[in-house]
Amino acid sequence: MSAFEFSPHHYSVLYQETLAGLNLKVDGHYIDGTLGAGGHSYGILERTAPEGKLLGLDADPVALALASERLKPFGTRVRIVPSNFAQIFEVAQREGFVPADGVVLDLGLSSMQLDDRERGFSFQGDGPLDMRFGEIQGELTAAEIVNRWSEERLVKLFFELGEEPQARRLARAIGEARRVQPLETTGQLAAVLEKAGGGRAAGRTKRPIHPATRVFQALRMEVNHELERLAQGLEGALQTLGPGGRLAVISFHSLEDRVVKRFIQHEASDKNILPDTPISLALPKTPTLRPITKKPQVAGLQEESENRRSRSAKLRVAEKW
Ligand SMILES: C[S@@+](CC[C@H](N)C(=O)[O-])C[C@H]1O[C@@H](n2cnc3c(N)ncnc32)[C@H](O)[C@@H]1O
Repeated sequence: MSAFEFSPHHYSVLYQETLAGLNLKVDGHYIDGTLGAGGHSYGILERTAPEGKLLGLDADPVALALASERLKPFGTRVRIVPSNFAQIFEVAQREGFVPADGVVLDLGLSSMQLDDRERGFSFQGDGPLDMRFGEIQGELTAAEIVNRWSEERLVKLFFELGEEPQARRLARAIGEARRVQPLETTGQLAAVLEKAGGGRAAGRTKRPIHPATRVFQALRMEVNHELERLAQGLEGALQTLGPGGRLAVISFHSLEDRVVKRFIQHEASDKNILPDTPISLALPKTPTLRPITKKPQVAGLQEESENRRSRSAKLRVAEKW
């Protein structure tokens, strides 16, 4: 099945839960900061007909082309802008979407992007070791990290962003391999990692994962500054929302979820709690968000069995005061 043929909703993770969380209004203005294949956006537009408007952002030209095609039936109700969601407030202001009634961020890359072997995100193919997506994010590529960073720095990266328990063993294997010749393709890196082992069982279903999974994830997150962009995107979304507007964020990684959770906690608190400062010394502040989901929503067993990617998904929703 080609990417253009699948049904509008099929691959959107936590689809019903996300649309419900946004508390959609028929004439509302909504922003999808991670348009992807346009699945969540399609649902927002369907449920906010006939007046609702949607601004869709994505940093990836392939996703933008796909979403533009799929959302064509909604005509002028949709506006699509190539952008990183770190700039959500600036783009929304320019496009007349401030104040917005809702913002959705469905983080990471789609299975479609991850599975495209030539784009270098997948350890199953043999693409260049690049991993930058969207607009040029900077000079840093996966090849630069793998071939030039010290083994100690690789251990820290794989451990922190990949949460890879075998980080040390895998970093050492890379160090040995690159002394013979630089690693230039995803296939070469995957072969080194596979030989070295690692990648124990993970997730609620405890299925073993490929030894390269977490290392590839860590490299992608580092190259694209994903955690920094997320923090900027959350701040921007808060600025963009009007009173009563909803923020819905789906994350796939515990570090991403922690950033989202702490952001909501901080914005919901009436105290400005600074790191390393006793709570009794915290200064009062006005809360800006009200958490709607006390605990993150996760996929049900049926969704998990239909869509592998949904197994690690967590949805958090908050409302602007
Ligand atoms: C999981 S997909 C979204 C799928 C979409 N919700 C759907 O239902 O079809 C995530 C998308 O976000 C994009 N993306 C990731 N980080 C981004 C960022 N910082 N700024 C803009 N787009 C980003 C990716 O290119 C990808 O297309």
